Amino acid sequence: MRKARNRIRAGPEGGAREGAYGLGMIKTLIALALATTVAAFTAVVFSLDAVSQARDEKAPAAAPATPVASHDHSTEAGPLTSFAGVKPDDADELAMAHEPYSAELPAVPAGDVVNVHMVLKDVTVEIAPGVKYNAWGFEGGVPGPIVHVRQGQTVRMTLTNGGAIPHSIDYHAARIAPNRAFRDVNPGESFTFEFVAKDPGVFMYHCGTKPVLAHIANGMYGAIVIDPAQPLPKADHEYVLVGGEFYLDGPGLDEPASFDMAKAHTMMPDWVTFNGYAGQYVAHPLTADPNELVRFYVVAAGPSLDVDFHVVGTIFDTVYPFGDMHSGHALHGVQTFPVPAGGGAVFDVRIPDEGLYPFVSHSFSSVDLGQVGLLKIGDPPGSMSH
Ligand code: CU
Ligand code: CU
Repeated sequence: MRKARNRIRAGPEGGAREGAYGLGMIKTLIALALATTVAAFTAVVFSLDAVSQARDEKAPAAAPATPVASHDHSTEAGPLTSFAGVKPDDADELAMAHEPYSAELPAVPAGDVVNVHMVLKDVTVEIAPGVKYNAWGFEGGVPGPIVHVRQGQTVRMTLTNGGAIPHSIDYHAARIAPNRAFRDVNPGESFTFEFVAKDPGVFMYHCGTKPVLAHIANGMYGAIVIDPAQPLPKADHEYVLVGGEFYLDGPGLDEPASFDMAKAHTMMPDWVTFNGYAGQYVAHPLTADPNELVRFYVVAAGPSLDVDFHVVGTIFDTVYPFGDMHSGHALHGVQTFPVPAGGGAVFDVRIPDEGLYPFVSHSFSSVDLGQVGLLKIGDPPGSMSH
């Protein structure tokens, strides 16, 4: 930890970088669309360094933030310490070795009733190269599994609590009394409820146990996609991206970090991710061929930040705003569309030219903290095929 922070503090050119990184990041992203995958990854890693350095220098000789337990609502005096961008020297290799969360939308199960069983586990996950975090994972990972059903099917949800404290599951896709269906499940117990997927769209699910801020920030969230009874135009690739942010009480390098309530209250994340790991689709791009229809289902799980979804180098042909799949409500020719915390939206894009097209939350602090990936169209010269 100390080594990494000292390394970042030591840079003599930090002042210049701090002033330039807004514009620099825009240039970096434009470069990403043109550069090779490896070069692109390096550029993003550099930008993460730059923001860390900038933040680090702003915090006056920071006293470490006192870890605040998730049930503790106390505040504290003094500045909070940012661990944004703090990662080991072999971060590039670790990012390449990381197995990315599969963004591919799974098939809809057959039958009128779809059984979904999740076993909640307390688990240490990696949220950025070499950065470990003590999470609470639906099915032992962050985010939880992607659930995919068709409008009219019944979801029969069973949550088994394999963790140490009570948890629950709240489906935004359900019209159901929350005190009955979203109730706390004690450790060692299971609970089952059903709802009919009446409304098509892409929705968030999450643990609703208090303090919800801590349960979401610890990774208890995921996406459910409900296909409309009248299908959308068939897409060649369907990818699900769940935005989330992490608030760390330490850098997570030598030992896993845990949740910091004070930083969550002030919305000062250390890492901001798509599908639980900073920049994972830069190292492992999502792919399509020229002119294929690519559909992104985007959820902003937060707990507190929006995703301002944008693909560099193109324009969305169609946006289904807020996950509203009614074709008469769709928008066309859109550059950026906001996905609110706790909401979702669906984005169709068709790109004719080979290349590397970064997808981001255009709230650029989030880009610097890891909410960036690449859509690789075709096999552009110099890019790696894998
Ligand atoms: Cu929980
Ligand atoms: Cu909610």
